[in-house]
Amino acid sequence: MGAQTVLDPSLQSSDVQEFERSLLDRVVGQDRAVRRLARVYQVFLAGLASPGRPLVNLLFLGPTGSGKTRLVEAAAEVFFGKANAVLKIDCAEFQHSHEIAKLIGSPPGYLGHRETQPLITQEGLDQFQTEKLKASLVLFDEIEKASDALWQLLLGILDKATLTLGDNRRVDFSRSMIFLTSNLGSQEISNLMRGGLGFMAGAPGDNENLDQKIYRVAIEAARRKFSAEFLNRIDKVIVFRPLEREHLEKVLDIELGHVQERITTAECGHPFVFRCTEPAREFLLQEGTDPKSGARHLKRAIERHLVYPVSNLLATSQIRLGDLIIVDADTSLGKLVFRREDQGALVGEPAEPSAQPAVAPASAQHRAARTLARRAPRD
Ligand SMILES: Nc1ncnc2c1ncn2[C@@H]1O[C@H](COP(=O)(O)OP(=O)(O)OP(=O)(O)O)[C@@H](O)[C@H]1O
Ligand SMILES: [Mg+2]
Repeated sequence: MGAQTVLDPSLQSSDVQEFERSLLDRVVGQDRAVRRLARVYQVFLAGLASPGRPLVNLLFLGPTGSGKTRLVEAAAEVFFGKANAVLKIDCAEFQHSHEIAKLIGSPPGYLGHRETQPLITQEGLDQFQTEKLKASLVLFDEIEKASDALWQLLLGILDKATLTLGDNRRVDFSRSMIFLTSNLGSQEISNLMRGGLGFMAGAPGDNENLDQKIYRVAIEAARRKFSAEFLNRIDKVIVFRPLEREHLEKVLDIELGHVQERITTAECGHPFVFRCTEPAREFLLQEGTDPKSGARHLKRAIERHLVYPVSNLLATSQIRLGDLIIVDADTSLGKLVFRREDQGALVGEPAEPSAQPAVAPASAQHRAARTLARRAPRD
């Protein structure tokens, strides 16, 4: 027998490593889900995805505001450069038969046939694909709210990767990663967490125990609600864990980073830097997170307490080019307070404040405020 070389199947290509790293930077505390997605991507890149099926069918369970939708958006950002490069179907919107027509179009001859451009079409599905990545992301949100008619369509997509539109055209999903999300079991999970906090403080083994319990509770809720026919078509059920304090702090950092990015790339082109003190961070965490809704309201809290006041400060020229703004909290007033560091702003930052005018023209300030307001994300 000739010499043999031992191979290492645990190695991932640099593309996939980069993908995984970028997702972990964006999505906190859900590493299991991220790793799973990275594996799917690797199989796709190797050209070994099974034909005649979607690239993967993943069911995300777990509490609200834990990152289920965010993970799909983050994958879109990493793959295609924008969070909304996803074909998203809110199942709750397609309860009745006329609403199904909005999804797949109506048969020729039916009233409104020509006017209704279906939400799902091959072009719509493929629109974000790039030369490098001929794959699509599809998200069915809140599937527990899907009507029977929608379930039938869904079963066909998950199984055969095809959907027949109202006018008999076919849509091919074999290059799609399909994500389905549901909050099923989240009430039980939060009960478990509340009862389980003692466990969390205990030995690591106990912690593991709680984690397994969370998984089991979610899976059982899914089995009760969904047919075996459906669950058999799912490649993997991933249970998102409720975010704990340390995760929420990281989510806050990420969201504050987004605001700084909006400021830095605002059209006016005269950025400033803000820093939040510990009390300010604590205030935003208090306002924007809670055990029931996870990080769901964090963005809104940041918009209300940070972005709106900052827009006013910009529009009234109280913040100028290159300033360093310290954001603190006044707990007695229940709001954030803003102070300008009067010297040494941006020291050590890559920008060169001295090369730019100390006070930006008022019109630029207005533009900056408008840009900030316009870019406010919808929650
Ligand atoms: N794990 C996380 N990592 C980073 N950000 C997160 C995470 N979880 C939640 N967020 C923040 O909270 C927002 C809401 O989260 P997301 O939409 O992913 O919730 P969800 O799990 O889909 O909840 P729902 O079941 O209510 O749809 C996100 O846009 C993001 O700002
Ligand atoms: Mg969601």
